[in-house]
Amino acid sequence: MKSLAFGHPPPTIRFWKRLVREALRVSGSTPLYVFSAQPVAERIAELDKAFADAGFGSALPSVRQWLSCKTQPIPPLLRWWRERGGDIEVVSEFELRAALTEGFPASRILVNGPAKHRWLPQLPLRGLSVNFDSAAELAALLPLAKKLNWRKGLRICTRQEFDPENQKLPTQFGFTPTEALAAIKRMRTSGVEPEMIHFHLRTNVATPKIYADAIAGVARLCRAARLSVRFLDIGGGLPPRHALSRMGEAFDTAWKGSSPTSLATMLKNAAGQFPALEEIWLENGRFVSACSGVLVVRVSDVKERRGVRQLICDGGRTMNALVSNWERHEILPLEARRGPMALTAAFGPTCMAFDQLALRPLPRSLRAGDHLIWMEAGAYHIPWETRFSHGHAAVAWHDERGLRLARERQDFEGWWGIWA
Ligand SMILES: Cc1ncc(COP(=O)(O)O)c(C=O)c1O
Repeated sequence: MKSLAFGHPPPTIRFWKRLVREALRVSGSTPLYVFSAQPVAERIAELDKAFADAGFGSALPSVRQWLSCKTQPIPPLLRWWRERGGDIEVVSEFELRAALTEGFPASRILVNGPAKHRWLPQLPLRGLSVNFDSAAELAALLPLAKKLNWRKGLRICTRQEFDPENQKLPTQFGFTPTEALAAIKRMRTSGVEPEMIHFHLRTNVATPKIYADAIAGVARLCRAARLSVRFLDIGGGLPPRHALSRMGEAFDTAWKGSSPTSLATMLKNAAGQFPALEEIWLENGRFVSACSGVLVVRVSDVKERRGVRQLICDGGRTMNALVSNWERHEILPLEARRGPMALTAAFGPTCMAFDQLALRPLPRSLRAGDHLIWMEAGAYHIPWETRFSHGHAAVAWHDERGLRLARERQDFEGWWGIWA
């Protein structure tokens, strides 16, 4: 079996083992997610620095980083980010309500996503930023957008986007360039000029060139419409570090060196295509949040058959880590287990063979009662949790104020009692 290179520096591993030990003392239960603000702050600072070093914010337009709410929609993260003066991007009524509940003013909220006309009128907030997604949405929301003085933009479906399962087909998001020209005309007839132009390509964008090609496409559209946008919103998609594809390749392999620096260099070359540009907007979810959490599971039973050791754990893919279906993450024993290695599969407790968190050589000395730490669990793990046969995991949160339990493990009442 090919050995996998996740590349975590030793201080990162020590940081998480220390937090996990503390979180286990506080929560007393597994499965358990442990999240920390510190890696989020580090990734944000790294992006800020790469853009400042490239001249953004001085010779070039400034850069605004929106927190992608959907990626890690947990109250302590939103509170922490709001206290730092951060801006937040939401794509649903619940996410908008969550941002408002956690104290974000409308002027610091960007609303994206399809079919917003079905719910956004129920929250008539002054001063939102909104990227329209379709002609029907625009027609329904334009009067409200004018009345409430929204910052208005259009999401474009660029040639670089495709349906991941049928790659010849486009995604369902945004306006095609032809539709966008008609939308801009319609807005102008109402006396409105779009201020932002937006796209989000997909997650784990493989190279900076893909972004550059998408930007060139929207710049051509702006020229054709004689549109001078103030804000270029390139969505998210920057690959996270230390996560590998099923084939064992790092998602950021083709980014060469530091992906924030490569992104900044690409944008430095591209920004001139928008003469009136004031800001570039980023909405990176996975790059910012993936490294900010781990999942801790406990081994309940051990089997050995046909050359594989099987660890049955109290958490796994089906309930806690759906991304393990297409991503490989580092998995580490918390307890010091040494000696010979054996091909080992770590399973969750559900009745699906699918529920396999990891398959790789691990110390043969691992035994029931030990804990495993599944790394990079800070993005799209909480939103994709299931309650399959069991309740939700406990969650511990760590920031400058220390570590605390943010959510109890769901008990039977919580699991069954939601039914009328
Ligand atoms: C509009 C939009 N922005 C940002 C993101 C975050 O993407 P990622 O986590 O790949 O950076 C998404 C993810 O689906 C999205 O739909």
